Amino acid sequence: MSDEQANQRAFPMRGVSQPTRDEALALPKVHISRHPVVAHKMAMLRDKRTAAPDFYRLVRELGTLLAYEATIDLETQPIAIETPIEGMSAQSLVGGVGIVPILRAGLGLADGFRQVLPDASVWHLGLRRDERTLEPIEYYNPLARAVNLQVCFAVDPMLATGGSATDALNTLVRYGVPHLRYVGLIGAPYGVVKLREAHPGVPIYLAALDDRLDDRGYICPGLGDAGDRQFNTL
Ligand code: PRP
Ligand code: URA
Repeated sequence: MSDEQANQRAFPMRGVSQPTRDEALALPKVHISRHPVVAHKMAMLRDKRTAAPDFYRLVRELGTLLAYEATIDLETQPIAIETPIEGMSAQSLVGGVGIVPILRAGLGLADGFRQVLPDASVWHLGLRRDERTLEPIEYYNPLARAVNLQVCFAVDPMLATGGSATDALNTLVRYGVPHLRYVGLIGAPYGVVKLREAHPGVPIYLAALDDRLDDRGYICPGLGDAGDRQFNTL
């Protein structure tokens, strides 16, 4: 690809007006957390003075909180159990749960999810955004055909241009993974709209919806580079 072609694909938000927050909020199946503890932790996470160990801990804690929000409507079925006192009919989740952390930044969120769903199956998917073209590049994919899942969560903190999320979900659809949901920390309206167009049926759960993308495809005000800040590679 020539530099000029790369540039055009690279900055899809250049020269077009980006959608507003209100436009993204009006889309179906877009859930932005209203939880005060999520907002509080997001403030600490975004702060540029927050160092890597605290940053990773916060991503993990936010993953746990978002797991509660994104599982609120899962289906249960009655099971018979014995308490130490007597028998009863209790409720158990129907089918299995899958978690797909999009490497590398999705690792912290997946850790948080596993606090809530320790039995979930975890498939790592390696995607990195080429910073010259902003195109996602797949470098690791151990997916096998997944069966008997009630739901599968693709988790990645940043939904910027939406390229990585769309690619990840395309891959999961190709592998026949059913009942997909996307969970992230911060979305730009541009990426939310793009993901909604590409995968209209997939619910999107975010801790926050920001204003816009800058010229390099970073979310503003955002938090900077989520992978580098988690793994101290700035
Ligand atoms: C970041 C982030 C997303 C992607 C979002 O990953 O974790 O995967 O960028 O950008 P997009 O919506 O424009 O595709 P990055 O490529 O920096 O890789 P990393 O997680 O390994 O740091
Ligand atoms: N990836 C990040 O880590 N941060 C952004 O703002 C955009 C993409």
